[in-house]
Amino acid sequence: MSSAVSIELLQKQLEDASTELAQSFLSTIDIMESLISTNERFYDGSHCRFVSAKSALIAQQMGMEGYEIFEIQTAALLHDIGKIGFPDYISSKYYSEFTNEEQKIYYKHPELGKQLLSVNSNFDSIGNIILQHHEKLDGNGFPNHLSGSEIHIGAQIISVVDFYHNAVFRRKRDRTQISDSSLSAINGTALVTQSQKRSTQAVQYLLSKRKTVYNAEVVDLFVRMVEYERENLSEQTILRCSVHQLTEDMIIAQDYYTTYGLLIVAKGEHVKPHIRNALIKFANNGEVPPKILVMR
Ligand SMILES: [Fe+2]
Ligand SMILES: [Fe+2]
Repeated sequence: MSSAVSIELLQKQLEDASTELAQSFLSTIDIMESLISTNERFYDGSHCRFVSAKSALIAQQMGMEGYEIFEIQTAALLHDIGKIGFPDYISSKYYSEFTNEEQKIYYKHPELGKQLLSVNSNFDSIGNIILQHHEKLDGNGFPNHLSGSEIHIGAQIISVVDFYHNAVFRRKRDRTQISDSSLSAINGTALVTQSQKRSTQAVQYLLSKRKTVYNAEVVDLFVRMVEYERENLSEQTILRCSVHQLTEDMIIAQDYYTTYGLLIVAKGEHVKPHIRNALIKFANNGEVPPKILVMR
């Protein structure tokens, strides 16, 4: 009897411990995501969240399940963690603008990312995917010039979405920003037109490199996803809504930052309870307007 009780107690303690471990693992990921966000001011929207959300969807559509999707989703969220600490003069440049010295620094970020995660063995496999996210099927990627199936499928997925987001949402330093007030009167069509040309070019490039540089199945799934979203977005209307009245059928229509430049929500994110709560909190502090722009 007493041994049965102690086994139950032990099992309960183990469960509590593993729940705590899982929670601390997840909150570690949250902290790392916040750190990465501080480095994302050279994008329209959140680069890491976009790459993460789309990579997870592709993994799911390829028939992956459970932890496998979680691993790819997390690796995608943290894939550029090795860029933390890069000076602005590097982060603000396009790859083609790098000097030889800057290129060398840039090439190190996949390895730095893996190293950063190596302090916790729970991140081993995620770190490995991060290490490979700039490898290409033809062996012309970096840092290890892996080719074909030597590259983890998660890294093959991230590489496609990463290319697209960089091509379409990397902020040109001279690109004119649409002001908050001018957005209130227009519908989703204007937003689509703004990035449509860059999106079409990026899609054409991906299609031209399917099988040779990028995984063909991943490219096809991603292109279908982009086209579907583009059609849906053009039918949506932008409205200004109180943060207290946000509902889960709404999509954020514009990036919202804190006064010190940390991204709170990105254009294109679906309203979720934690996003609504964060916006209410920041609206109470006066960091974001009480009414924000959303699409429905
Ligand atoms: Fe990268
Ligand atoms: Fe990236």
